[in-house]
Amino acid sequence: MPEFAIVRTVADLRAQVGAWKRSGQRVALVPTMGALHEGHLSLIALAKTRAERVVASVFVNPTQFGPNEDFDAYPRGEARDAELLAGAGCDLMFAPGVAEMYPQGFSTSISVTGVSEPLDGAARPGHFNGVATVVTKLLLQCGPDVAVFGEKDYQQLQVIKRLVRDLDIPVEIIGAPTSRLEDGLARSSRNAYLSETEREVAGRMNLALSEAVRRLKAGESVERVEATGRAALERAGFQRIDYFEVRNADDLSHPGPGTLSGPGRVLAAAVIGKTRLIDNMAVE
Ligand code: PAF
Repeated sequence: MPEFAIVRTVADLRAQVGAWKRSGQRVALVPTMGALHEGHLSLIALAKTRAERVVASVFVNPTQFGPNEDFDAYPRGEARDAELLAGAGCDLMFAPGVAEMYPQGFSTSISVTGVSEPLDGAARPGHFNGVATVVTKLLLQCGPDVAVFGEKDYQQLQVIKRLVRDLDIPVEIIGAPTSRLEDGLARSSRNAYLSETEREVAGRMNLALSEAVRRLKAGESVERVEATGRAALERAGFQRIDYFEVRNADDLSHPGPGTLSGPGRVLAAAVIGKTRLIDNMAVE
C-alpha cells in the first residue's frame, strides 16, 4: 500500500485497519468534516503521538445540520484536504459518500440525554443526535484504539465521551486544545464565511471568554459573569447571542448562582452576519 491512501467504503477501511492491528500497530482516528485548517492538523499531530497509524475521516454529515443551517454552503475541497492530510503524516483518509454512511432504509439514531441538552443542544435541535450517530458509526467502522476531537467543540467532546462510556465502545477519547489565530479567534472551517469587518468582531469572542475566566477566578458570581459576557458580545457587534454561560466542566450542568466552586467551563455561541461561531474556555 502507498504511504497515503484514500478509501471510500467501510469494507476497505476495515481491511486496512485490520491489517495494521494484526501487525501490532495502534490506530488513531481523527473524525472531521473536511475544509481542513491548522486546527485539524494539530489533531493529526496529537494522534501521531498516540498511535503508529492515523486515519482521518472526511464526511460532511447531513444529519447534524438543521433544515435552515449551512449544510449546502459548508466548505468542501477533497483534493486540498487529502494534500494537507498526507503532508501532516496521516496514513489513510476515509471519505465515504452519503449512501455509504446512510444507505437506503437507515433508521437508527443515537441520542445522549443530559449533557447534550443545554447550550448547542437547545439552540440546534437534533444536532447532537446527528453527531452521536455519525461518531458511533465511525468508531464502529474504524475500530481505532484512540480517537481525537478538538476542545473547541467542548460540548460535542463531552457528548462523545458519554456515549463511548454508555455503549462500552473500546476506544480512548482524547480532547485536543483549541488552536487559535493571532488575535485568539478559534480556528474553524466556518471562519471562511466571515467578511473583513465580521472577522474583527469574531476576534472579540475569545476576549469576552478570557475576561469571564478572569472574573470567575477573582470570585465574581456566575450570574454577573454571564451577564457581563453577553453584554460584551453585544457591544462587540454580534447580532444574535445564543448563549454565554458558565457550566460545570464535566457534565455541563449549571453551577447555580454565586461563585463557582469546582472546575468550570465558560461557553459562548453567537451569530455575526450569516456565521454562527462557538468557543469556550476552561476555569481551572
Ligand atoms: O467536529 C466535527 O467536525 C464533526 O462534528 C464530527 C465530529 C466530525 C462529526 O461529524
